[in-house]
Amino acid sequence: MAVGRSGAGKTTLAQTLAREAYDHNLSVVTIDAKDDAAYFLTAYPATLLIGPSTPIPVLEVPSWLSRAEYKRLITKVLRRTWWGGQGTDQVGGESMDVAYRTHDHPSIEDWRNSLLGLRHKGDTYNRVDRIDATAAKLAQLIDRYPGIGKTPAGSGLHLDLLCTSSMYFGFRIHTEVEDFLTTWLLELRLAHHRAQNIRALDTLTLIDESVLLLHENTITETASIAPTFPLLREFGIACLTTTNNYRSLPDAVKSNTTTHCVLAMSDAREQRAVCDTIGLDTNQREYLATKLAPGTFILKTAGEWQFPVLTKFDEVRTAKHISPNEWRAAEERTNQHARTAPPVHLAPREECESTGQPTPSQTTAPSASPPSRVAPVVENTTPPNTRKAALNKHCAAVMHDVDEHHLTLTTPCFHRCNVRLSEGDRAKTLLTNIGFLESHRVRTGAGRGKTGSALRLTPAGWAWLGRKPPKGTRGAGVQHEFVVHELARRIPRSTIETLGADLVIAYNTAEHQQLQNALQTLKAGTIALNDGDLVALECEVSAASKTAPCNVARDAGFALTIIATMAETEKLQRTFAETDRVMVVDVLRLLDTLREER
Ligand SMILES: Nc1ncnc2c1ncn2[C@@H]1O[C@H](COP(=O)(O)OP(=O)(O)O)[C@@H](O)[C@H]1O
Ligand SMILES: [Mg+2]
Repeated sequence: MAVGRSGAGKTTLAQTLAREAYDHNLSVVTIDAKDDAAYFLTAYPATLLIGPSTPIPVLEVPSWLSRAEYKRLITKVLRRTWWGGQGTDQVGGESMDVAYRTHDHPSIEDWRNSLLGLRHKGDTYNRVDRIDATAAKLAQLIDRYPGIGKTPAGSGLHLDLLCTSSMYFGFRIHTEVEDFLTTWLLELRLAHHRAQNIRALDTLTLIDESVLLLHENTITETASIAPTFPLLREFGIACLTTTNNYRSLPDAVKSNTTTHCVLAMSDAREQRAVCDTIGLDTNQREYLATKLAPGTFILKTAGEWQFPVLTKFDEVRTAKHISPNEWRAAEERTNQHARTAPPVHLAPREECESTGQPTPSQTTAPSASPPSRVAPVVENTTPPNTRKAALNKHCAAVMHDVDEHHLTLTTPCFHRCNVRLSEGDRAKTLLTNIGFLESHRVRTGAGRGKTGSALRLTPAGWAWLGRKPPKGTRGAGVQHEFVVHELARRIPRSTIETLGADLVIAYNTAEHQQLQNALQTLKAGTIALNDGDLVALECEVSAASKTAPCNVARDAGFALTIIATMAETEKLQRTFAETDRVMVVDVLRLLDTLREER
């Protein structure tokens, strides 16, 4: 982070570092709201230009994510950048399901139409309001970025390209649409790097003027990218930000900044705040306040160098703007990567699955670029033999539902598939017999008889869907995997198996009221955290008193660790009674309570 008053040289320094990153073959993602870095496009021609006509299929599910995971990613970005909290991501998620169900290769335009199609008589005011507001924002996006709004899945730029190339996203007008697109681009790259387990420094994101994305957005009360900050660094994505308003940055950003470049400052309160963070002594503070010359800054970096260093940087005069021709050339260079439109389906998909007729092999010649995995139906990448099995409507519905709800219990699954118990059971039995599905008896809640069947697709089942199974949890057995996924489904902002914990929760007072109440009800204690703090939740199914202490030790970096155990709750509560950063709760009772809290 480069901190300093306006005109202190932050942009000059930041761009010097960005050019350095380019020279080191790092991927540089530039978010430019001040239109003073466009020359990167001509200086580094491989840089993709993200602009109004760039064809990006936002609704295309990347091959390295399940559709459920991708839907969660998009609804998370929605929630963080478009007001409305749960209401918005509720209707956003539902309409995405409709778009995927009714379009082989949906575009954002299809999504918007599906959203408007959700309106029904008798809807609550709040729901109608969320539908209209979200549809209006999508309309703005489609209107101002037609290349992004109208490109169907399977065509345009391949999403992997957006996760591995340098990019320049410049805009003169900064609205929630730009927030959405920028946050989506960064969250997508993070998801890609996580899926590919890229940990070494691979990307530098330049966010010149932190007011973008990093400051609490007064409406959504969240800072679009701040909660993701710690994760970005974990997966090889560095952030270079500049700010002339240090104090109003969210804690998650301040506490995760490892290198401070302090340029001339004019506001005493700002000076004090920064000096406190980097630990300057009195003389050094005096020097900063009175003697720091243009072209110099105080460098304080975490790790090996314990002390601050006075550093010079050159004044590099660059022609910031590029000509319209150069802009068009950059557009062409970017758009030449676009794939042609995907193959058109001859028969509506539903029909195929319910007729029971073997699906006629009418696939057309595969398109040049890697296939997109939008609709798990007729894909010319799946090995020919699995395509033979045509399933009836109920079976297909169950397959898709379990794809989205890994280890779901049968009842909610049949409910979502709109099938009666008997029909659901028949479908489940058939799918189990043909080896596409397996069900596991699991404990679902505390007390007698609280067990159920958790459904999971088999590798053959995934192959039939033409998809890759999601990353399994640490092989600690189905019961463990079940409670982790059940908790993930009930706790907003939670992600499975990141940063080494079963579940990581980016704490938010408003959204985690339910969790807070549940923990209080179970006398496990009260969460006293700031928004953005990270909570680790570890599920202990067997040998809790052995594994819990290790997990607690490993999770030392988290603000709080919740041990959700199936056994020895009291013993573990005594073990961790002294420390306030560990909470122990009975996981099954927690699930029961979260279900009741709804
Ligand atoms: N290393 C430097 N040495 C001397 N002057 C500089 C240096 N960097 C920038 N400046 C001067 O400061 C002005 C503002 O720089 P800029 O990077 O845009 O500041 P900021 O982004 O902090 O507003 C520049 O126009 C330039 O004249
Ligand atoms: Mg600047």
